[in-house]
Amino acid sequence: MFDEYGIPRGAEWDEAGLLTLHHFVYCSRASDGVDEAEVGRIVESAQRHNLARGITGVMVFGSGVFFQWIEGPAVPIEKLIASLYRDPRHYDIVSLDQSEEKRERLYPNWDMERVEADDIRIVLQDALESSSNKKNKETLMRILKQIDSGPLHSLGRS
Ligand SMILES: Cc1cc2nc3c(=O)[nH]c(=O)nc-3n(C[C@H](O)[C@H](O)[C@H](O)COP(=O)(O)O)c2cc1C
Repeated sequence: MFDEYGIPRGAEWDEAGLLTLHHFVYCSRASDGVDEAEVGRIVESAQRHNLARGITGVMVFGSGVFFQWIEGPAVPIEKLIASLYRDPRHYDIVSLDQSEEKRERLYPNWDMERVEADDIRIVLQDALESSSNKKNKETLMRILKQIDSGPLHSLGRS
């Protein structure tokens, strides 16, 4: 069904050689017990799986909150989204953006790169400002309030 890069057989390329890419951007909260070591395991296995499925993207983890951008062909992305919603290692998933476009990848060389967020608050605040969905806004505000009221433990890459 797929070639080795997860590109569906018969995928349509336009004249500029651009493939229709699906992307999904979300944030979520880490479940109790998900520590740096567990996040390391998630990223490591994501890199292996994503490479085989033609998925690229970026992940930020800080103050117990995940922020992730994934992009790739439709079927593998839809399957990954379903897996993410079933994964008990995080909850309160807020879909920030999901669409399909003919374009180049934003993260062509990253199977799943973890980047530093000294302050995940800035990432979430940006998402709040650009979101027009009422439910997303409410959840983002709830997460931000929780971060502001709770003890902030910065969980940068060690
Ligand atoms: C925050 C977070 C991000 C994840 N990112 C990925 C990813 O980019 N790629 C991936 O294959 N699995 C990722 N996973 C793991 C998937 O949720 C799931 O465990 C894995 O795809 C296997 O799914 P399956 O058991 O339904 O086949 C992530 C999990 C979490 C909690």
